[in-house]
Amino acid sequence: MLLAPNLLDQVNSEMVLSKPSALVALVSLSITNSLAWNHDDYLHSPTADEIPHPSADGRGWEEAFGLASDFVSELTLGEKVLMVSGVHGPCVGNIAPIPRLNFTGLCIQNGPLGLEQGSYSSVFPAGVSIAASWDKDVAYERGSQMAAEFKAKGAHVLLGPVAGPLGRSPLGGRNFEGFSPDPYLTGELFTQTIEGIQDGGVQACAKHFIGNEQETQRQPSENEDGTKIDSVSSNIDDRTMHELYLWPFQQAVRAGVGSVMCSYNRLNQTYGCQNSKALNGILKIDFGFQGYVMSDWGATHSGVTAVNSGEDMDMPGTPDYPLFFHQNLTNAVNNGSVSSDRLDDMLRRVMAPYFHLKQDQDFPPIDPSMKELNSVLFSTPDEYEGQFNYTFGAEPNIDVRGNHGASIRRSAAEATVLLKNKHGALPLKDPKRVAVFGNDAGDFTNGMSVWWFNGVGNYEYGVMATGGGSGSGLFSYAVSPLDAIKLRVGYTKDALVQYVLNNTAILEEDSPYLKALVPWSSDVCLVFLKSWATESEDRTTLASDWNGDEVVEKIASTCANTVVVLHSAGVNTMPWADHPNVTAILAAHLPGQEAGNSIVDVLWGDVNPSGRLPYTIAKNEWDYDFAPITNSTELLKTNDPTAWQSDFKEGALIDYRHFNHYNKSVQYEFGYGLSYTTFNMSRKLTITPLSTNGTISPFPPSAPIAPGGNPSLWDTLYEIQATVQNTGEVAGAAVPQLYLTLPPHENQGEYVEATNILRGFEKVRLDPGGSKTVTFALNRRDLSHWDVINQEWTIPQGEVKASVGFSSRDLRARGTFTVIP
Ligand SMILES: *[C@@H]1O[C@H](CO)[C@@H](O)[C@H](O)[C@H]1NC(C)=O
Ligand SMILES: *[C@@H]1O[C@H](CO)[C@@H](O)[C@H](O)[C@H]1NC(C)=O
Ligand SMILES: *[C@@H]1O[C@H](CO)[C@@H](O)[C@H](O)[C@H]1NC(C)=O
Ligand SMILES: *[C@@H]1O[C@H](CO)[C@@H](O)[C@H](O)[C@H]1NC(C)=O
Ligand SMILES: *[C@@H]1O[C@H](CO)[C@@H](O)[C@H](O)[C@H]1NC(C)=O
Ligand SMILES: *[C@@H]1O[C@H](CO)[C@@H](O)[C@H](O)[C@H]1NC(C)=O
Ligand SMILES: *[C@@H]1O[C@H](CO)[C@@H](O)[C@H](O)[C@H]1NC(C)=O
Ligand SMILES: *[C@@H]1O[C@H](CO)[C@@H](O)[C@H](O)[C@H]1NC(C)=O
Ligand SMILES: *[C@@H]1O[C@H](CO)[C@@H](O)[C@H](O)[C@H]1NC(C)=O
Ligand SMILES: *[C@@H]1O[C@H](CO)[C@@H](O)[C@H](O)[C@H]1NC(C)=O
Ligand SMILES: *[C@@H]1O[C@H](CO)[C@@H](O)[C@H](O)[C@H]1NC(C)=O
Repeated sequence: MLLAPNLLDQVNSEMVLSKPSALVALVSLSITNSLAWNHDDYLHSPTADEIPHPSADGRGWEEAFGLASDFVSELTLGEKVLMVSGVHGPCVGNIAPIPRLNFTGLCIQNGPLGLEQGSYSSVFPAGVSIAASWDKDVAYERGSQMAAEFKAKGAHVLLGPVAGPLGRSPLGGRNFEGFSPDPYLTGELFTQTIEGIQDGGVQACAKHFIGNEQETQRQPSENEDGTKIDSVSSNIDDRTMHELYLWPFQQAVRAGVGSVMCSYNRLNQTYGCQNSKALNGILKIDFGFQGYVMSDWGATHSGVTAVNSGEDMDMPGTPDYPLFFHQNLTNAVNNGSVSSDRLDDMLRRVMAPYFHLKQDQDFPPIDPSMKELNSVLFSTPDEYEGQFNYTFGAEPNIDVRGNHGASIRRSAAEATVLLKNKHGALPLKDPKRVAVFGNDAGDFTNGMSVWWFNGVGNYEYGVMATGGGSGSGLFSYAVSPLDAIKLRVGYTKDALVQYVLNNTAILEEDSPYLKALVPWSSDVCLVFLKSWATESEDRTTLASDWNGDEVVEKIASTCANTVVVLHSAGVNTMPWADHPNVTAILAAHLPGQEAGNSIVDVLWGDVNPSGRLPYTIAKNEWDYDFAPITNSTELLKTNDPTAWQSDFKEGALIDYRHFNHYNKSVQYEFGYGLSYTTFNMSRKLTITPLSTNGTISPFPPSAPIAPGGNPSLWDTLYEIQATVQNTGEVAGAAVPQLYLTLPPHENQGEYVEATNILRGFEKVRLDPGGSKTVTFALNRRDLSHWDVINQEWTIPQGEVKASVGFSSRDLRARGTFTVIP
């Protein structure tokens, strides 16, 4: 969410059906199309007349649904409308209290890596760091610790986690908030996070639904003559939609997620928050979602149309945004264009998760400090005091951090990805002369929030421990790498920690700053690079910011033991990766408040890193041009309201699926990462069918839809086992990964099937010499393609190839099996 600069009036739904201009062709770089693409297929998305709204019936949380129904039956029309419309208050999003019914309202807060507007709260590692951990327990633990902090501050809803963007383009500005461009990896970690949050009594909000793969033109704009130009339209075929972008959301619904946030972008020309196909059809009918759809901030573009297409709650509903709900919703119910049944359904959907998570029982009051913190961005107390009686605690600024710092330090250290380690450069062997370089190594110079509170943006000095936007954090403290290094080396005889943190100064010709340091006599040169990303803009380069590549080249030209650490929102190109003096490379992503301690733990070997890349690092930035961010000078000047079209022509072939399909060499592949120990794997896989019936039907047996869809999609049909051993000298964690190549789908048409797709992973901790057999469970969906004709998951006929290895390109054990002969 973000305050939109150009808040525009209601979308003319006729307008969006007109043919996009020829300008579109200028932006479609059209590298290699894996789909036969006909743009005319993407000019219409079914409306609410075609796919009417289904009412929730509380499947999966029956008791709570009963309580919700009773509650709703007590409400007046005015109260009902108020409760789905949003009002000013102390939180980022606020649902007004109804004191008559002892309902204290809903406090909705950012965001996916911690309480963004929270004093004395923790800044956890970002989603991309959790993705790099490949550790389901870490994802769950972070979710539950975040929930503990939100609840203690009185926040009912956590706006996260994120699986949209999935990460179609590595330049996507919000990718870091989510996990990985691989839907399986994201699906597992997204779901674990949701379970961690909701087991802690806080509602998760799975966002952004769906196709929100770029920030550029995510909201409508206005051109010079005042013409309203619509948001970008993500044009995605049905199969890719199910197999990639929807995949994690389907699991989230199964896990009982309380709410889903509809997205800013359009889908096949229709806005995400009024897209009946996506909200009514896929989310609520096919997936059986029983909770509520909340708009992204300012993503609502109509009243009646949005409500009938599946939006249940408008956010933030304050007058600085167009108010499509509030009085207009009352009018719509009174004149029958929104049925009172539908309004009641919206309310039951909002209240069922509240009762299911027992938020009606002893939920802590709102920390009064939130009033001041929220004043910076959204509402000041005079905008709501006297009007709505929120319940505040007696003491402001309660400390909710507990011992979470210790988990943050450990999980961020473990999630660090060791990409290169020559001549045993790491772990460091008690070096006495340590030189530190780069503007990422020191403290922040502009305060404790890198975004909302002081609007810093891509700040030049200071460690990059989070990204910007609503996925950012307000630090109660932050440990910089330099601080932690100084402490670790100690102020003892012969010890030397010297540093130059100004990249411009380092890069000066004949730099006097470097001369004074004599880096060539250092035992080790530690170079810290960073790469910023934020909501509301996409990255413009995959190179490290602030001339990081030049800094590495310069230091490595004189220092034979150069170790590079990257704090980054995601993919970076590394033209210096094979430089002989670059002895080690660590991708530390966005580790949160313990950044310095976490990296020192890895550098000095207190923690053996076990992160793996959750994406591919290609050789060149242009290697990713198969899925470009839609953007151009022409588009930015267009007079055509529908000009912004993002055609997902690459279909399923994003990230490693693309590089594998085209046999392209890469710098470091998906799933790759080293350890301070070594691992091996037996060549044999044990493949066991679990079906006791002998035969398995290609389609799931028909059954009533439960949250998550047909329940038999989740039946485990096969188990695959592989044995991993630690063949090195120290304890460490391996990440064996299962990849499958399914037989092609008989209805595939022009669709290009991806091969060797991830369908299992485990983090396995092993002592030296230790070995362990890992079991990967394959459910029906894991073994299926999405069949667009039958609108169902279907298991293809023929031989499935299974491989288990240590990365997507290091497959050690292989086997085959046939589910449907
Ligand atoms: C978009 O159009 C494609 C092609 O017609 C179709 O497969 C897909 O289901 C549509 N999606 C939506 C959300 O309308
Ligand atoms: C509200 O809470 C009070 C005090 O616990 C209780 O007496 C009253 O019955 C409650 N009212 C409703 C409508 O639940
Ligand atoms: C709501 O309705 C009023 C008229 O009752 C109108 O002036 C206003 O613009 C409407 N709000 C929006 C966002 O359309
Ligand atoms: C009913 O009210 C809504 C909201 O004011 C308005 O948009 C719609 O056009 C009205 N419909 C009719 C049939 O009057
Ligand atoms: C808020 O509380 C005050 C004091 O108890 C009361 O006078 C007022 O009516 C309440 N306002 C609402 C909207 O409930
Ligand atoms: C960084 O170094 C450059 C070049 O020497 C200098 O112009 C700039 O003022 C320095 N920045 C800071 C913050 O010292
Ligand atoms: C590596 O570092 C040494 C100094 O130790 C330097 O002489 C050499 O030129 C460097 N190599 C490269 C390729 O820059
Ligand atoms: C979009 O295009 C404009 C004009 O070419 C450019 O200035 C801007 O940096 C681009 N944005 C991104 C995210 O690439
Ligand atoms: C990739 O390599 C495989 C095996 O060598 C080959 O069968 C396939 O045709 C190649 N694919 C492309 C797109 O070149
Ligand atoms: C790894 O395991 C394979 C298969 O059992 C075996 O052939 C190979 O020798 C082992 N390698 C090492 C370094 O132990
Ligand atoms: C096995 O058969 C029973 C009874 O026909 C059926 O309910 C069940 O879904 C089947 N299980 C599988 C895994 O196909």
